[in-house]
Amino acid sequence: MKRVTVPAIRKRKGGEPLVMLTAYTVRMAQLMDAACDMLLVGDSLGQVIYGLPSTVPVTLEMMALHGAAVVRGSYHALVVIDMPFGSYEASPQQAFESAARLLKESGAAAVKLEGGAAMAPTVKFLGERGIPVIGHIGLTPQAINVLGGYGARGRSEAERAKLVGDAVAMDEAGAFAIVVEGVVEPIAVEITQAVKCPTIGIGASAQCDGQVLVAEDMLGLFERTPRFVKRYDDLAGRISAAVETYADEVRSRAFPGPDQVYAPKD
Ligand code: KIV
Ligand code: NA
Repeated sequence: MKRVTVPAIRKRKGGEPLVMLTAYTVRMAQLMDAACDMLLVGDSLGQVIYGLPSTVPVTLEMMALHGAAVVRGSYHALVVIDMPFGSYEASPQQAFESAARLLKESGAAAVKLEGGAAMAPTVKFLGERGIPVIGHIGLTPQAINVLGGYGARGRSEAERAKLVGDAVAMDEAGAFAIVVEGVVEPIAVEITQAVKCPTIGIGASAQCDGQVLVAEDMLGLFERTPRFVKRYDDLAGRISAAVETYADEVRSRAFPGPDQVYAPKD
């Protein structure tokens, strides 16, 4: 099976919705690869894998290492790596150096970065130099220190106009898709209709051209998740139960049993 390409993603505008999930490790990538069009090595790994308070402290090295693991664990889905905070905002040149490092060290094909109109020249600069970019607008978690919270965007007319402007700027700069996060539903629909590239919603709308979630959220690994997460399993409960059974069996010497020990001769 050939890996999904950037032009193939672009062509899905208005068609069958794109399926995207986050992946940070090789085994999870292997398990999700066949069902997904894209795997996102999200900087949400800061909280999910490293227990950090936000995505702000995530480094380029962390993204490159996890990106490489996800590429090794997949052969079908397009792998996209988040550019971490501080690695791209200063200038298009800085962004190119960081993005090139991510692609060279991981083998991934594309990057994602947060920001709207202000980042459009950077998206154009990267695209013209061989680096495909997904934009990310609306609730942009790297801006937590400016936004002050993770609430939905687009409730005022000023916010609505800014969001649509950000989306159009990203589209015109050549972004091959745009993640629309935490945006009130009708504005997510308006954005989707306003741009030529696919939109990928998270806390947005079923009318977006695709959807993305953090895998650990949809698998039910966390007690607390945002409103927009739907839990498709309760892995936290199942892992706790398995660990309790193991602990009981160790303490009662039921584990290891005859099948798990080596006979002197066979
Ligand atoms: O880092 C991340 O997981 C993301 C998605 C939720 C869009 O950016
Ligand atoms: Na992210």
